Amino acid sequence: MNTQPIGVFDSGVGGLSVLRHLVHFMPQEEYVYLGDTARVPYGNKSPETVVQYSLQCARFLELHNVKHIIIACNTASAVALREVRSASSVPVTGVIEPSVQAAIAQTRNGRIGVLGTRATVGSNAYTKHIEQHADGRRIEVIGQPCPLFVPLAEEGWVAHPATRAIAEEYMKPLVMADADTVILGCTHYPLLRATIQDAIPTATLIDPGEHTALTVQETLRSTDALAPLREIPSTRITYYVTDIPATFPQVAKQFLGFDVPQPRLVSIEQLAG
Ligand code: DGL
Repeated sequence: MNTQPIGVFDSGVGGLSVLRHLVHFMPQEEYVYLGDTARVPYGNKSPETVVQYSLQCARFLELHNVKHIIIACNTASAVALREVRSASSVPVTGVIEPSVQAAIAQTRNGRIGVLGTRATVGSNAYTKHIEQHADGRRIEVIGQPCPLFVPLAEEGWVAHPATRAIAEEYMKPLVMADADTVILGCTHYPLLRATIQDAIPTATLIDPGEHTALTVQETLRSTDALAPLREIPSTRITYYVTDIPATFPQVAKQFLGFDVPQPRLVSIEQLAG
């Protein structure tokens, strides 16, 4: 049993879509969430910058005595997982490996679509992980950057006609390739799930947050590091952000599904220091 908190970081509020699943599967745990809202988006930055920011976020969480770090951001998981793992003294889980395993188990025709930011798709991290876990199976990966989805999700335009038209456009190559499984490889895309599903009706959509939460739960269980179950679980979450935009409460609620209290501000200087 281990009652230390679990640390979660993301480039901004999007990682709350991952925290949502963590809280669902492990309500007895305490969480420290860090959203780098002053420097979001990571998705169109260079790998060097994303690695540097991710290392700072992970170190901040370690200073909060966390027992496990979760990189909720797909972009950071794609380009900085190795670096964060080797710099951290606690186990680190990214969102890519768990979703890749779920997608491989799911696909029947061996054609997996991966939606993500330009940085995530450009890194080929999903393709490499799929090759590693495919066990000799031939799997074709169709990567599709969907940069317009992030602002649309934050605007709450989840089923707006404009979002539908953009989703149809983005899904065209995946429909053409007959992808039967599609990974929603960005923290924001699960919000647009229904609209994405309408644009590619026959595919099974994989939400990395859900599979990451299950993987972390299993890892903690197998190392006897889960917090003890309480009769009335009330999850304790502390939120840190590097900037508090005026829209924070509404946007955060969309991702998390419940109200977020006022977050604590941590300056970039503190994070970098
Ligand atoms: N959190 C990012 C991701 O999952 C999306 C937003 C950004 O570009 O920073 O890739």
